[in-house]
Amino acid sequence: DPIEPDLSSCGESTVDTSKACMNVPCCPPKLKDSKIIDFEPHLGCKIRYRPAAHLVDRDYLYKFESAMERMKALPVDDPRNFMQQANIHCAYCNGAYSQVGFPDQKLEVHYSWLFFPFHRMYLYFFDRILGKLIGDPDFAMPFWNWDSPCGMTMPQIYLDPYSPLYDENRNLEHQPDVVVNLNDGKSVREQRNRNLYVMYQQMVRSSKTASCFHGAVYRAGCVSETDIGCTPEPRGGTLENGAHLAVHKFVGAKNPPYNEDMGNFYSAGRDPLFYAHHGNVDRMWNIWKTLPGKKRRDFDEKDWLNSSFLFYDENANMVRVKVRDCLDSKTLGYDYQSVDIPWLRSKP
Ligand code: C2O
Repeated sequence: DPIEPDLSSCGESTVDTSKACMNVPCCPPKLKDSKIIDFEPHLGCKIRYRPAAHLVDRDYLYKFESAMERMKALPVDDPRNFMQQANIHCAYCNGAYSQVGFPDQKLEVHYSWLFFPFHRMYLYFFDRILGKLIGDPDFAMPFWNWDSPCGMTMPQIYLDPYSPLYDENRNLEHQPDVVVNLNDGKSVREQRNRNLYVMYQQMVRSSKTASCFHGAVYRAGCVSETDIGCTPEPRGGTLENGAHLAVHKFVGAKNPPYNEDMGNFYSAGRDPLFYAHHGNVDRMWNIWKTLPGKKRRDFDEKDWLNSSFLFYDENANMVRVKVRDCLDSKTLGYDYQSVDIPWLRSKP
């Protein structure tokens, strides 16, 4: 069956590391009008292009910062408030929801075929809210171009302590200009070229099928690993397990036990850089689909296509969105600034 979060059962999230464990409240605020509407993409007249963060100009930065400032200044119980937005990640990644029809089964959006769709829609609404807050429906947030040599350090615009894009919970040793290691987060010499090989490996060589790229099948109500049709075991796709996690580790502070913010799923959304990071992850999904290979296409199984998530949209209405609604970013009205993709030429 397709997976659906059970809103009525939303409870505390559990944050677990090998060293410690705690519970945190991350559920969305309840609003008076709790009607859930089915998602329909907002179609403007033109495609919104998300720019590479290291290439934006002053005017753009001014807009982006004003939008973020306003988002942080919204009342704390407004679902569009920045902390509420951050908590969405915490709720969906740390077991706040059980699955509709299966009260004993937690919903988790990592390490399976839900990874790309969930994060795409999470960012989609974040983007729409920012645009709404500055009255610019064509606004699109930046992406962190870490797969290209000129973008492999944390983008400058996120490093100014007086900016709403800044987050103090980061690994300061990696600021301002240490090159990320897309393999495990710790940098070494000659890192830029190695990263290109890593990208080639994760995007091309080991990503020839939907299962390799997206990760394991994940269906509702799978109680044990031996259930027929169930996920054999949670397994993320190549990019999710590789560059995606490496960048999280690289940015998150070294403080044990939770490595906030980016180093732990429960807190990752509190760093504005998270959204730029996932912009690039999302961009990789688009690129993957353009690479040659007959099997390099999305799943067509109903359990995937009909799985759904709940988000508050830019007008604070709760919206149900299905995986099938988000397969093509252009249908959602956005795409990415076109930049060079050097790793395509970096066959090891
Ligand atoms: Cu939901 Cu990068 O994690």
